[in-house]
Amino acid sequence: MNSLVEKINSLKQEKNAVILAHCYQNVEVDEVADFVGDSLYLSRKAKETNADIIVFAGVSFMAETAKLLSPEKKVLLPRLEAGCFMANMINVESLRQFRAMHEGVPAVCYVNSTADIKAESDVCCTSSNAVNVVKNLAEREGVDEVLFLPDTYLGKWVEAQLGGKIKVHTYNGFCPTHLRLRAEDVEKSRLEHPNSKILAHPECHHTVSELADFVGSTKEIMEYVRKTNFKEYTIATEKGVFDRLKRDYSNKTFYLLKDTLVCQNMKWNTLDDIYNSLLREEHEITLDSETSAKAMACINKMFEITQSLTVAGGV
Ligand code: 13P
Ligand code: SF4
Repeated sequence: MNSLVEKINSLKQEKNAVILAHCYQNVEVDEVADFVGDSLYLSRKAKETNADIIVFAGVSFMAETAKLLSPEKKVLLPRLEAGCFMANMINVESLRQFRAMHEGVPAVCYVNSTADIKAESDVCCTSSNAVNVVKNLAEREGVDEVLFLPDTYLGKWVEAQLGGKIKVHTYNGFCPTHLRLRAEDVEKSRLEHPNSKILAHPECHHTVSELADFVGSTKEIMEYVRKTNFKEYTIATEKGVFDRLKRDYSNKTFYLLKDTLVCQNMKWNTLDDIYNSLLREEHEITLDSETSAKAMACINKMFEITQSLTVAGGV
């Protein structure tokens, strides 16, 4: 009898499918994943792939983004329960109210949002490129204020990185996982591990980010560890990042800043779910064409900006 991993791999071949896995997934998922990474990396892979089926081991907004980028492909989310608390904190009505309070101000929407929200926003961003997207809006289009949604802390962080030159009006959403961390946790960890570098995601509360040694997206945190030669690192983001770093760098020591840094939604997908999803081709992501066209305009503007920065050597 084949192992589950073998069964998934042979189904992948038979159906010309790829599995994209976010770094917050259970680490066992990497055994069958074709690509593992953060949301920006995975959205690029979704755009490039020639597969007929994409199984997205992540949360629903990520699978929706993959569908927007690859509309001709079948995109499957293994578990329907895998939503994102932050993405669900905003709806079209509350976004329209937010926009009405700041008429004429462009809305920058974090990729952690539903397709409906992207459709009502001007430009998308991820945690890897949020600063550059806002900076570019200011430089290219002369804006001096933006709306940022749904994450208030990423928005505040972007404003701080730009030296307060651009006013960022933030919507009041947040990530409950990252908000479990408080400044006291960072202070306690410093006392316990004084030589350890503290690496935080910008979704953390700003008092946590201010105390960290480095603040960056999932990819930037992983790159920081790869490029530096410290002995100890304290991870102030979701546990999946810590698990992968621990697995990949046996010569370095890692601490998770708090045991509760676990996104339950990201942990729904098991290898069984992935197998069943591929076998039964469920649960398929579908989007109406009008929403898709508008949401794609928002995502394309992000790619246009990041592409121009890559060409100019800015990213
Ligand atoms: P990244 O954009 O860094 O992959 O983060 C996604 C996410 O859900 C963070 O909580
Ligand atoms: Fe959403 Fe937070 Fe989970 Fe990321 S960690 S998917 S923002 S709930």
